[in-house]
Amino acid sequence: MLPYPPGKPIEEVKREFGLEEVIKLASNENPLGPSPKALRAMAAVAGEMQLYPDGAGYYLKAALADMIGITPEEIMLGNGSDEITVFLAQCYLNRKAGVITSDYSFVRYRNAAELMNAPLTLVPMKNFRHDLKAMLAAVTPTTRMVLLDLPGNPTGTIVTLAELKRFLKALPEHVIPVLDQAYYEYAIVDEDFPDGFDLRTLHPNLVVTRTFSKAYGLAGLRVGYAVAPAWLVHDVERVRPPFNTSRMAQAAALAALDDHQHLRRSVISNLKGLAQLNAGLGKLGLKPVPSHANFVLVDLAPRAAGRSGGQIFNELLKLGVVVRPMGGYGLSSFIRISVGTAAENRKCLAALRQVLASA
Ligand SMILES: Cc1ncc(COP(=O)(O)O)c(C=O)c1O
Repeated sequence: MLPYPPGKPIEEVKREFGLEEVIKLASNENPLGPSPKALRAMAAVAGEMQLYPDGAGYYLKAALADMIGITPEEIMLGNGSDEITVFLAQCYLNRKAGVITSDYSFVRYRNAAELMNAPLTLVPMKNFRHDLKAMLAAVTPTTRMVLLDLPGNPTGTIVTLAELKRFLKALPEHVIPVLDQAYYEYAIVDEDFPDGFDLRTLHPNLVVTRTFSKAYGLAGLRVGYAVAPAWLVHDVERVRPPFNTSRMAQAAALAALDDHQHLRRSVISNLKGLAQLNAGLGKLGLKPVPSHANFVLVDLAPRAAGRSGGQIFNELLKLGVVVRPMGGYGLSSFIRISVGTAAENRKCLAALRQVLASA
């Protein structure tokens, strides 16, 4: 197994290149930061850190259950939604119980399959969208799980509600469909975007994961959740470490759920930032993949003069801009740019213009 390559930390780039100002648009974080309510909630519990958390996350699960209109027994909490994917792999995958996902879906799904030595089928995307028909056709009696990121990372694309409904209805019952909706809050402004929670009657094993890392701005705290049938939540309890979400994370997530204003501001800021990046990249003669999330995937080949996305990434680093090279996905001429503040997006576009012109 190869370790997951995370976005390059700001501190490391400052040290390496002797820079004072560095912006990081590499890990799809919220440029507005956490909700002020979440910050206050963290400060309020800071003096209780000698105590273990409530491992069952009673209050956070109760608030989520209330918001979604389900019971707390249908919710699991994770140290980030990423941990929930690993739990699902640990519970259900093995050498004879495999996974289907797309070739350009979130790279962590492959790691989850590899961890359990589970057979992995990567179905080619069509125009950077999940090809649900081909995924369905790839199901065999030994398929145990289908992992779908909606919106996808690194593509930012979605499938429509009608497409997803057809897929879930046709998917055999021995398969667990996992909809990873880490970027849900950004995507739901599009009326074609499927809300996984509304589709629970379409498949008896449906798992929908969400996170506080993106639109809620709490990536550093590590807290995510999933909605699933109660029996499945019960299965996962067997592999979950007893205190996987911290006391501070639970308090902050609970407060963040209540801060509708911050969430709205974050989503609006992202829509504006996406438009800014798309327009700026267009002016550079590039065509970003249409994104429903807080990042854009873009092929630099038309302007890169033979340089790879990794080489352009390195040249951008010297100008204090961290983006994400996509060679690991086999997209060697692409980079992924997370949406920042208006000023960060401007700086990124200016740096990219300079680098592209320098060939
Ligand atoms: C599609 C997708 N799923 C899950 C995650 C993991 O998020 P978390 O911080 O909740 O573990 C990410 C993070 O980038 C992601 O892009």
